[in-house]
Amino acid sequence: MFSENLFDIIDSIFSWTKKIEKPTIDIIEKSAIKITFLLYFLIIVLITEDLYLQKNKKMPIKILGIESSCDETSAAVISNSTLLSNIIANQDVHEKYGGVVPELASRAHQVNIIPVVDMALKKAGINKKDLDAIAYTRGPGLLGSLLVGGSFAKSLSLSLNIPLIEVNHMQAHILAHFIEDNCDVKTDFPFLGVNISGGHTQIVYCRNYFDMEIIGETLDDSIGEAFDKCGKMLGLKYPAGPKINKLANEGNENKFNFSKPKVDGLNFSFSGLKTNFKRFLEKNLKNDKFFIEKEINNLCASLQLIITEILFEKVKLAAKQKKILNIVFGGGVSANTKIREIFKNENNLKLYFPKLEYTTDNAAMIAIVGYLKFKDNLFSELNLESKARYSI
Ligand code: KG4
Ligand code: ZN
Repeated sequence: MFSENLFDIIDSIFSWTKKIEKPTIDIIEKSAIKITFLLYFLIIVLITEDLYLQKNKKMPIKILGIESSCDETSAAVISNSTLLSNIIANQDVHEKYGGVVPELASRAHQVNIIPVVDMALKKAGINKKDLDAIAYTRGPGLLGSLLVGGSFAKSLSLSLNIPLIEVNHMQAHILAHFIEDNCDVKTDFPFLGVNISGGHTQIVYCRNYFDMEIIGETLDDSIGEAFDKCGKMLGLKYPAGPKINKLANEGNENKFNFSKPKVDGLNFSFSGLKTNFKRFLEKNLKNDKFFIEKEINNLCASLQLIITEILFEKVKLAAKQKKILNIVFGGGVSANTKIREIFKNENNLKLYFPKLEYTTDNAAMIAIVGYLKFKDNLFSELNLESKARYSI
């Protein structure tokens, strides 16, 4: 049908040939001319269409994200907001020290960074020449660790001649929410970000992607440190948070009571709880040197409950004060099942918990911020210094 019409069109276009038709041009020659013109016509149509598509088709933006702020070396590739790979190398070297040793962390990053980036590109099926930009964690974190990721990102952006994008690690924990497969439904702005990690405890008023304000934070230890330091007293290796969570599942959370700190407004304090917990253990160990062994599950459950309640009350207060019901969680501690459970029983709030793989430190969250900044042309200079302290 289509080809018949085309023949008619070509016939009409070339009808003038009929007028000069000579008896010497036989039927085969005329058909050959028509077919040749038809082929030319089709080629022209295809080329024009291809040029049009190339001009109008928006190629997805491909960003390599690099995270090295603490003790995880991670690289991820994102295509727009769809994650293609997220490789994380943990550093077991710190376990026996009961916390992260900065010098050992930066050395481990140096060893891990090239294979981790290589794996992320391979898993994504991307050649580094196809990347549009490199995003990296500028801070906050351990300076030595940040410098490894930062220097690598800068060198790669320079050698590939593509833009560099600096990322604030704490913003990234919240903005991980916008990774395509993280939450089925995305929240609108404004919302409250709740960053609960090994280094931070923050309630953040988020007006827009990069318009954030901390409205509550810890005055001393972070919530993750409360888990890790109390866990260390129980003989649990770093990071103790997940281990406490697991043991607590087998324990009675109402067996022991620990008092809540009195802190005004939306700020937190966890160092008092740590001291209470220490004294409580010392007192009981005097009477029974096997107290911890016997009560480990109940101790973990009771500790987890008090930490959860402290967080819960402050977040509820923030939601009430700011009249915002949408709450986006981020950071390693947001993996905790008791925290998820207690919040989910609060029907007034609309909660967004990250998938487990996006809770602890990862480069996927750096890559999504890279994408959001790329769209706004928020690029960085190569001489930007890494920042151990870097507020949202
Ligand atoms: O976000 P993250 O990986 O690193 C920082 O930016 O600090 O958080 C690490 C923290 C550690 O304190 C770890 O003990 C805690 O997250 N954590 C947990 C759980 N999983 C990780 N705390 C309680 N329950 C968990 N399931
Ligand atoms: Zn973190």
